[in-house]
Amino acid sequence: MLTHVRLIDLPKIEDYRGNLSFLESYNHIPFEIKRTYWIYDVPGGQVRGGHAFKEQEEFIISMSGSFDIIVDDGNEKKVYSLNRSYYGLYIPRGLWREMRNFSTNSLALVISSTSFTEEDYIRDYDVFLKIKEL
Ligand code: TYD
Repeated sequence: MLTHVRLIDLPKIEDYRGNLSFLESYNHIPFEIKRTYWIYDVPGGQVRGGHAFKEQEEFIISMSGSFDIIVDDGNEKKVYSLNRSYYGLYIPRGLWREMRNFSTNSLALVISSTSFTEEDYIRDYDVFLKIKEL
């Protein structure tokens, strides 16, 4: 399952006036964008995430600063460090994730394949492991 998690490089239009990057549904990321949200003003040492999604796919970009994403399929964990805005991490459905080590003033942009619904969350790690065993 972790084999489907991957860093995706985005276009980077370099310009003396400043660089520009962008992404489009199905072109740069493998799903249609339904929602975006962002995580900011994270106090030092705090951890975000700590759940899996049944359906939601995500693409996460560090728009500013840096942070780590730990992705876990129930057997194996992998750590990705994000620190530039011209690439991001694609996370398919069904994987546990945590976000840690946020730098001061970091800004995490999350692009999601679904609208928000609490029913899509698996927030209990033991429940996650049980579902993975099925
Ligand atoms: P949650 O996804 O648990 O945060 P984390 O980034 O740590 O995984 O969301 C925190 C709270 O915000 C939770 O009560 C649900 C709410 N929320 C929304 O209402 N809409 C959204 O799009 C998101 C992502 C969260």
